[in-house]
Amino acid sequence: MAKVKINQQNPYDAHMLWPPSPIVWVSTVSKDRMPNVAPFSLNEFFSYVSTYPQVIIVGMGGHTGMKVKGKGTKKSFLNIKATGEFVVNIPSEESIEKVTLTGLDTPPEFNKFEAYGLTPIPSKKVKAPSVKEAKVHYECQLMKIDDYGGQTDLVFGKVVAVVADEDVLSKKLEKKVRAIKPVYYYGIGPGKGLYFSAGKLIGKRDDSKNPPHS
Ligand SMILES: Cc1cc2nc3c(=O)[nH]c(=O)nc-3n(C[C@H](O)[C@H](O)[C@H](O)COP(=O)(O)O)c2cc1C
Repeated sequence: MAKVKINQQNPYDAHMLWPPSPIVWVSTVSKDRMPNVAPFSLNEFFSYVSTYPQVIIVGMGGHTGMKVKGKGTKKSFLNIKATGEFVVNIPSEESIEKVTLTGLDTPPEFNKFEAYGLTPIPSKKVKAPSVKEAKVHYECQLMKIDDYGGQTDLVFGKVVAVVADEDVLSKKLEKKVRAIKPVYYYGIGPGKGLYFSAGKLIGKRDDSKNPPHS
């Protein structure tokens, strides 16, 4: 099969070759106590960067809903900047419609929890609420915001508490994923993109063939 060089003049062509990435709900609260929730994924960068210390990066860009407002305008971003806290929640397959709805551009006084039937619950270590309908929650304190000069601000969160539904905790690896039912996003740009489930188990890692070192 011939290898074809992609024209980077159209960055979407390059981006669309990147595999689907997990979707999270970032929940925050404003200084005047309005809770907020919005979906993020590697669409514009989302990553669990390190296991110890536990650090999560969320890339927050300039699109909100169908509009391009410029970086630094999303309510999630403004709340994190104002309060220094956020929660990264993992939505399950049942929530995909609400994932789309919470990604819409809404005015500051619009409460997405109320409007879309989601439940804010108290978090353990941060004032930002967690989203009850998700099964896993990573409570984060803002470490830094990196404006690397691209179309997103990279928001680094130090994980200060991890909370999960009991039924997820009791399960072993594969079953844990089946219980969490994470959703993966493939697509870029407002109003576009596909949602995928975790798919089927196709193998197990076996490092027994590691060559010996002298
Ligand atoms: C599946 C999905 C993934 C998204 N991923 C990102 C992302 O990684 N970065 C980003 O800036 N916006 C992303 N968005 C768009 C935001 O959710 C959207 O701009 C939202 O309006 C922000 O809400 P807020 O103003 O309440 O923070 C995504 C939207 C959806 C539906």
